[in-house]
Amino acid sequence: MIKEVSYNDILSLFKGYKEDYVISMSNNSKYYAYELNNEYIGFICILDLDTELEIIDVFVMPEYQGNGYGDKLLKYILDNYKNRNYFLEVNVNNERAINLYKKNGFEILTIRKHYYKDEDAYVMSKGGEIHE
Ligand SMILES: CC(C)(COP(=O)(O)OP(=O)(O)OC[C@H]1O[C@@H](n2cnc3c(N)ncnc32)[C@H](O)[C@@H]1OP(=O)(O)O)[C@@H](O)C(=O)NCCC(=O)NCCS
Repeated sequence: MIKEVSYNDILSLFKGYKEDYVISMSNNSKYYAYELNNEYIGFICILDLDTELEIIDVFVMPEYQGNGYGDKLLKYILDNYKNRNYFLEVNVNNERAINLYKKNGFEILTIRKHYYKDEDAYVMSKGGEIHE
């Protein structure tokens, strides 16, 4: 079951996993957590920007990865926020996440150098064009 939770819920539920991670605190940010057998095993964070939707982060706890939960979280957003131009940034070395996004119709638009300090990011989109 996927349900909406608050920013503070994310911080407490995923304590130890996301300590060094700064999640956007914009008013338009929304967080959805995956609950399995009374345990929270992952979440997705989005920024709802009218016609655009930014996927800020998708996370599945290591022991639950590779079982389709990341895919379910992403599909939940695509199903519940239809007809948007979806954007995201992903580390160019994060093959697993890139595959997940490609599988759901995302394409690489461009590369952002040093987006993660020493590493680069792909900007990926489904439905959107980049104007810069
Ligand atoms: C990226 C992440 C969210 C994916 O979630 P997941 O539950 O492990 O992935 P799923 O089991 O739903 O797999 C979905 C797709 O991802 C890809 N994938 C999954 N495991 C993979 C692996 N070991 N290697 C390459 N691709 C892989 C596949 O395309 C897979 O689809 P398929 O099973 O039909 O082939 C998860 O691995 C994670 O939390 N990673 C750490 C945090 C992170 O990097 N988040 C992304 C930030 S942009």
